[in-house]
Amino acid sequence: MRKHIVAGNWKMNNDLAQSVALISDLKKQNQTSDAEVMIAPTFTNLWHANENLKDSTIEVIAQNMHFAKNGAYTGEVSAEMLKSLGITTVILGHSERRAYFNETDDMLAKKVDAALEHNMRVIFCFGEELADRQANNHEAVVANQIKNALFHLEASAFEHIVLAYEPVWAIGTGETASPEQAQDMHQFIRQTLNDKYGENVANDMSILYGGSVKPANAKEIFSKPDVDGGLIGGAALKAEDFYAIVNAF
Ligand code: G3P
Repeated sequence: MRKHIVAGNWKMNNDLAQSVALISDLKKQNQTSDAEVMIAPTFTNLWHANENLKDSTIEVIAQNMHFAKNGAYTGEVSAEMLKSLGITTVILGHSERRAYFNETDDMLAKKVDAALEHNMRVIFCFGEELADRQANNHEAVVANQIKNALFHLEASAFEHIVLAYEPVWAIGTGETASPEQAQDMHQFIRQTLNDKYGENVANDMSILYGGSVKPANAKEIFSKPDVDGGLIGGAALKAEDFYAIVNAF
């Protein structure tokens, strides 16, 4: 079901004490919007965060996971391990995973399958590089990322998927996509879903924007008809800024 969602991707930030402090600050914030709120701490902080937010309206989610059930994958974490902590939503395909850890569309398709097999919800990330946009190739790049990792799925699987469009050139740069650029791409993404799976899947899909969302620009971006919320990096590390974005609907 399509809904407003704001998810904070903490990336590789906050040791345990800093995570405890930020979670304490987040619990003091007042929510005035109808948004579903999520935070994605690092693996080392997941259990503590989930224990401390169990009775709150904040869902604790994972930043990644491996597709294998278990085995010789040093440094990796499986779906079952996340589920054993009470984590039921996972971010997959973040551009930093694609760029720094060589995650391919095929690998991501396996990760999506593994998450869905374990009844998890997936926030699937994708987005073009600056060179793609400058060459006016951004729609083709985004369409391929979505098709290669998701279009093997049945329509019913999309009830468990949230899409997150994150133009790589806007991530962590302070260079935000304009609300019009975000709307144009989100509309294209929804149409791409519609062409393959029909109106119900397309209209029910929550499509988040990520890439330098801040308290100052969130309201205008979120006001666009095909933008259903945001995946927030830097601004998620300050409770007040994060909730200024949560309340920007
Ligand atoms: O996953 C969200 C992230 O990539 C966006 O980061 O710092 O540009 O909000 P930031």
